[in-house]
Amino acid sequence: MTQSVTSAAASGAASSASGATSPKRAFWSSRMAFILAATGSAVGLGNIWKFPYITGENGGGAFVLVYLLCIAIVGIPIMMAEVLIGRRGGRSPVSSMGILCQRDKLHARWRWLAGIGVLASFLILSFYSVIGGWALSYVGTAGTGQLSGQSSESIGAIFSGLLADPGTLLIWHTLFMALTMLVVARGLRGGLERAVTILMPALFVLLLLLVGYAMTTGYFGQAVTFLFQPDFSKLSTEGILVALGHAFFTLSLGMGVMMAYGSYLPKGVSIARTSILVSVMDTGVALLAGLAIFPLVFANGLEPGAGPGLIFQTLPLAFAQMPFGSLFGTLFFVLLVFAAWTSAISLLEPLVEWLEERRGLNRMISTLGAGIAAWLLGIGSILSLNEWSGFAPLGMFAAFEGKTIFDLLDFLTANILLPLCGLLVAVFVGWFMARQALENELSMGGRSFALWYGVLRYVTPIAVAIVFIYNLL
Ligand code: TRP
Repeated sequence: MTQSVTSAAASGAASSASGATSPKRAFWSSRMAFILAATGSAVGLGNIWKFPYITGENGGGAFVLVYLLCIAIVGIPIMMAEVLIGRRGGRSPVSSMGILCQRDKLHARWRWLAGIGVLASFLILSFYSVIGGWALSYVGTAGTGQLSGQSSESIGAIFSGLLADPGTLLIWHTLFMALTMLVVARGLRGGLERAVTILMPALFVLLLLLVGYAMTTGYFGQAVTFLFQPDFSKLSTEGILVALGHAFFTLSLGMGVMMAYGSYLPKGVSIARTSILVSVMDTGVALLAGLAIFPLVFANGLEPGAGPGLIFQTLPLAFAQMPFGSLFGTLFFVLLVFAAWTSAISLLEPLVEWLEERRGLNRMISTLGAGIAAWLLGIGSILSLNEWSGFAPLGMFAAFEGKTIFDLLDFLTANILLPLCGLLVAVFVGWFMARQALENELSMGGRSFALWYGVLRYVTPIAVAIVFIYNLL
């Protein structure tokens, strides 16, 4: 039993429902398999694309500090709670919640929690695929040598040209979504999980290399100051909400992904140590991306608050100037696509699983239905970059003023749905599940358990609630 479970976990998200049986992989410890799957989901566009640009928009150091705090006191405790629910329930997120409710005689309504997660993952996937498409298109741009020797202006022009062209964006969005659907439809087996073992470390090494290059620009110190010296006058309350939301987004929390993966985790493995390791690797990738990008921003007089295009306007500059830039550039964007791909798979999987379980559809049809629906919604995000850039569907509400479809989807999911689900997970595990069950599941030392339990019961929910209420008012 353990063996088949282990290989299913090694093959990542998709095999959970397809029942894929991949050959035994004795050389992977089961803990490693979970770590890979969870890290593959966590490390994605959130780390390399989103983290640097929201840090730039929110003034740097103070934002980074709040983000790190959110990872530590909100993200890690909730990741542990989600993994715990998954391992205890041993099923898909909605069923696991159902089982736990039955066992502890709680209201079955708690299952809705996993339901909101399914909705949120669908909404995220719709725009995630559009950005994944940008990364794909840059594989081509770098691969054909179009970046070499370019100035900062012409690199900016390449990017704005891409955004202004809905047809091209649509092609790349379609390709990215098709790649994601392909894997989910077939179940993740064979090549991809092996690829992830090689590609994730490769991404790490390449990022280190870029940080090394960034050190040569002479602006590294300025970037370090920008990232790590907090200036709270630059941080707005919305900035705090963005930092909190991003902690959820980057760790893939709040939508049952970690519950699903947790259901494959063998009993003997420490949930705490594993969750901390995944979180540390995820945060490490984000900080490295920041250290690679901001020196180039300052060296070239770019605007740190340039928004979603930040990495597409800065990193190509490094590739334009460094030796073998086209090669490194191509490699970098290939790896970025991979990171995005493994995350997108974990975003599509919950809805597909739900369609199979609830609607009795087969995997192929579920994948097609869910993927095409997300693809259609993604077209709204594409158009908000050009034709509909002035269209703010909920602009009549002050909180959504000037937000395009793309901005709205991002705001609604990362800043509202994910923290809300996370809050409910914390309340469910911290206040409703039996303490004895949690102690058995976590089997940590008394002190560490008490620390986690206290933080989950009091600190996490109160922190999330305060940030929330403050921003709504
Ligand atoms: N964590 C991924 C990233 O940083 C995005 C992601 C994948 C995600 N699966 C998720 C976010 C589930 C929230 C929930 O790019």
